[in-house]
Amino acid sequence: MRFPFLSTLAAIPLVAQAAVIVPGATWTDTSGNVIQAHGAGILKVGPTFYWHGEDKAANSGLFSAVSCYTSTDLVSWTRQINALTPINGTMISTSNIVERPKVVFNKANSEYVMWFHSDTSNYGAAMVGVATAKTPCGPYTYKASWNPLGAQSRDMGIFVDDDAAQTAYLLYASDNNQNFKISKLDANYHNVTTQINVITASTLESPGIVKRNGQYYLFASHTSGWDPNPNRWFVASSLSSAFSAQQDIAPEAVRTYFSQNAFDLPLGTNAIYMGDRWRPSLLGSSRYIWLPMSWASGSPQLVWADVWSVNLTAGTYSVATGTTYEAENGVVSGSATIPADPSWSGGKAVGFLGNGGSVSITVQGIGAAQWVSLYYANGDSTWRNTTVSVNGGASVVVDQPNTGGGHVILSVPVKLNLKNGSNTITFSAGQTNYAADLDKIIVYTAS
Ligand SMILES: *[C@@H]1O[C@H](CO)[C@@H](O)[C@H](O)[C@H]1NC(C)=O
Ligand SMILES: *[C@@H]1O[C@H](CO)[C@@H](O)[C@H](O)[C@H]1NC(C)=O
Ligand SMILES: *[C@@H]1O[C@H](CO)[C@@H](O)[C@H](O)[C@H]1NC(C)=O
Ligand SMILES: *[C@@H]1O[C@H](CO)[C@@H](O)[C@H](O)[C@H]1NC(C)=O
Ligand SMILES: *[C@@H]1O[C@H](CO)[C@@H](O)[C@H](O)[C@H]1NC(C)=O
Repeated sequence: MRFPFLSTLAAIPLVAQAAVIVPGATWTDTSGNVIQAHGAGILKVGPTFYWHGEDKAANSGLFSAVSCYTSTDLVSWTRQINALTPINGTMISTSNIVERPKVVFNKANSEYVMWFHSDTSNYGAAMVGVATAKTPCGPYTYKASWNPLGAQSRDMGIFVDDDAAQTAYLLYASDNNQNFKISKLDANYHNVTTQINVITASTLESPGIVKRNGQYYLFASHTSGWDPNPNRWFVASSLSSAFSAQQDIAPEAVRTYFSQNAFDLPLGTNAIYMGDRWRPSLLGSSRYIWLPMSWASGSPQLVWADVWSVNLTAGTYSVATGTTYEAENGVVSGSATIPADPSWSGGKAVGFLGNGGSVSITVQGIGAAQWVSLYYANGDSTWRNTTVSVNGGASVVVDQPNTGGGHVILSVPVKLNLKNGSNTITFSAGQTNYAADLDKIIVYTAS
């Protein structure tokens, strides 16, 4: 018997097209607009995930909106109405700060309650704000901003426990960001009632908690403004007992893969780390770094994944594999050099790219838009970038955040249209600034 759709099928590349998460990519919504939901909070209602965050499209730190996006797969997001918008003459005016919105559902009142960092433009007020709604995207009705229990609160999170009462807690950087505190919320989730823990002189912020096997795993960054730092994990058997000493969630040198924790979402026996790669000079172009957080080693560690996917039914994640091409094996032109150092993959990289130096690497494509990850080192204190051109076509520019001193290597993704068979990808041709040193590239087929 002839299979009726065979001719149609044959035209489609024979590749599994699982929806993938690509940390650091320009992530767009189902309308094609860049997702503006920084300082994320994730809420699940039935099969739907709601992503609330800061809309920074205006490239300003000041409040413009708390956005609301929906998805059933954590990859494809649709923008809904704004959940919270400015009210002039209040603490949520267009000249105030509203950051890190976290929405939780209060069963007692059948009400969605949004908590956020509420501040003046110089971060001097250090308050929490609360707004409520009857639906996950709202719009939310603003209630108040205040100093919880009379103390400062800056970068914060909310954790709801799985006890019968669904007790909720505010996790917050207090006392000039010196002391990290946990306080219990009232039954309505409208206020805090009791401080139950403090990690003194810890300088922690942007927290999240994942409960696993009855243990409370706390994740937090240190305080270095918009700059990344090595984020830490802590564990305790109850939220009021002493937490373990701080430990890294990733190798220190990579500074949490240039990101800061915003939210941690359980996934089976592991979790998804949801961080922000802040870009203060262009806040709306801050990217999202979402990575698997694995307990495979017995303690939580980020798994670097250029391209990966989740299976929500199984509660598992899968990291895509690609084909590696060493930059030093490409055709090196002009003033570009081939530095040698054991920290480079293959012991070598291509340096002095840009300003007359370029490299062309021949790769195999499958005739599709494919993710390509550029592994590089940028020892400056500022960002660099590189032009990328496929088969002599128009260039795109890929940003290369600073990676710290020495040869700390990070990767940044770019989606390229590759033809089936051999392709030449040229880096840094015709650019008048220096690009980062290029170690290798990895070409993926998942898209
Ligand atoms: C890609 O090229 C290979 C080898 O030339 C060929 O066998 C294959 O059918 C091509 N695939 C597509 C999707 O065109
Ligand atoms: C709020 O204030 C800003 C700045 O003064 C102004 O641009 C904006 O129009 C005001 N919005 C409303 C709704 O009044
Ligand atoms: C929160 O509770 C405190 C008492 O602990 C009270 O003084 C304060 O007004 C309350 N804040 C709000 C916004 O309800
Ligand atoms: C996801 O996991 C479920 C349950 O284990 C399995 O049936 C399903 O095939 C998986 N989906 C994919 C795309 O692998
Ligand atoms: C690339 O980086 C240079 C600084 O090294 C900067 O001047 C330029 O604006 C950047 N280009 C793009 C398109 O971002």
